[in-house]
Amino acid sequence: MIIREFKRPDIKRILEIETAAFDDPYPSSILIDIYNLGAGFLVAQQNNMVVGYIIFWIRYEDEGHIISLAVDRKYRRKSIGSQLVDYAVNIFAKCNVKDIKLEVRIGNKGARKFYRELGFEEKKFLENYYEDGEDAVIMKKALKSYSRDLPKD
Ligand SMILES: CC(C)(COP(=O)(O)OP(=O)(O)OC[C@H]1O[C@@H](n2cnc3c(N)ncnc32)[C@H](O)[C@@H]1OP(=O)(O)O)[C@@H](O)C(=O)NCCC(=O)NCCS
Repeated sequence: MIIREFKRPDIKRILEIETAAFDDPYPSSILIDIYNLGAGFLVAQQNNMVVGYIIFWIRYEDEGHIISLAVDRKYRRKSIGSQLVDYAVNIFAKCNVKDIKLEVRIGNKGARKFYRELGFEEKKFLENYYEDGEDAVIMKKALKSYSRDLPKD
């Protein structure tokens, strides 16, 4: 398995995975817009096939935000999601990000456990966050390598 940057021809596979993974998938136009706005977009590839992806960006200079993450159902529980998050976390650390945040559906117990295993904590609940009325859980991970306030030498 390799992790590499998203390329335009990947979009069809990304949409397949996104649509199968979420009841309210992002349309391709939004995914492309987010990418064009400078978001990080990585894909996991196995035997020449895209099997997962992560989209993330930095807000307010030092806050990392995971926008979307999904792994093809047939390839789950093989550490692909964890590796995608680790890869993004390393990029955030290099960019002096202080905290990483994400929102997840309250009913998405599997993803909540997945993120807890990766050191994210459930910080807050947002009522009616999603269009269908489901609440969101805000999860947060502080980056220990954050060094903005440390002396230069
Ligand atoms: C969440 C998701 C990305 C995890 O990807 P994955 O490649 O299966 O995750 P990993 O194999 O790295 O899992 C690491 C650990 O997280 C936990 N975990 C992962 N998925 C889990 C699930 N469905 N239920 C309970 N624990 C889970 C387990 O502890 C797992 O370790 P184990 O397999 O040794 O028990 C994947 O299930 C997915 O695409 N879900 C649909 C989309 C989604 O919910 N995205 C996240 C919200 S934005």
